Amino acid sequence: MRVRLKNVFVVYFLVSVTGLLYALMQLGQPCDCSAQLRAGAELGRARDQRLAQLQDELRRLQARGGRGPATEAPVTPIYVVTPTYTRLVQKAELVRLSQTLLHVKGLHWIVVEDAPARTPLVSTLLAQSGLSFTHLHVETPPELQRQESDPTWLRPRGVEQRNRALQWLRENRQPSDPGVVYFADDDNTYSLRLFEEMRSTRRVAVWPVGLVGGVRVERPLVEGGRVVGFRAGWRPTRPFALDMAGFAVALPLLLATPRARFDPRAERGFLESSLLSALVSLDQLEPKADNCTKVLVWHTRTEKPKMKQEELLGPEPNIEV
Ligand SMILES: *[C@@H]1O[C@H](CO)[C@@H](O)[C@H](O)[C@H]1NC(C)=O
Repeated sequence: MRVRLKNVFVVYFLVSVTGLLYALMQLGQPCDCSAQLRAGAELGRARDQRLAQLQDELRRLQARGGRGPATEAPVTPIYVVTPTYTRLVQKAELVRLSQTLLHVKGLHWIVVEDAPARTPLVSTLLAQSGLSFTHLHVETPPELQRQESDPTWLRPRGVEQRNRALQWLRENRQPSDPGVVYFADDDNTYSLRLFEEMRSTRRVAVWPVGLVGGVRVERPLVEGGRVVGFRAGWRPTRPFALDMAGFAVALPLLLATPRARFDPRAERGFLESSLLSALVSLDQLEPKADNCTKVLVWHTRTEKPKMKQEELLGPEPNIEV
């Protein structure tokens, strides 16, 4: 027994020593494992990045949770009605206006073309605008069309188009729906503050308009918080001596008054009055923009571009301008 145990011990000792030597030799060997190390480090970094992203996401969600959609009061929608017609500067004007409107919450843009059909230019522009919109068209009847040689005041443009938008609102919204309707031509300049002023309109809200009617500013005159008259260069005694850009109408009031529309045969300067007379009296107007002392919208007009050299160069039909 003793001898055998001794043998077993010797064998065990030899095997152990051999193993140990082999292990020591391996330690000494240079190991080419930098590739594995790099891969490992990269994996670690990627994991850290993903973790940081998830933490950011979590923080954002937590931040939103505090004032999330559930707790935020829904905004009153604003329906902006814009009549438009084909001309050289049309796309530039519509791009400019659309990019102002993108900043306004709860906005729906109703664009009405003076054309026998919706044009591809306006269709594409609206589809790419990022705005909620409705695209309509109606052609102004020939007897009401303004000729190129007519002075701009002879016939107001956009009357049929604005009435078409009113018709759409009557067919697609209920008098119980909240909303404010504003008629915004595509050439004016609008401050974002204007839209927040008009959002609280209960019947008809009014405010000043800059650079219009041959004066620096046309505006409702306000005394004790009420409109008592108008500062206007031309016939300030009109029932409502207001520019189209100078008022907004509450949607429920508009829809509750089916006869309220723009009269295509209204006398010069009386187009706005033709709509408003059906809706309110002077003392019901709600003055905005600090009792009508701030200008937040301007009549600007883009110069008609001169195209003298265009014919020399020949047509460039595949480029939309
Ligand atoms: C407008 O005028 C009325 C009466 O003078 C005043 O009570 C009110 O605070 C004014 N509103 C603003 C926004 O200045």
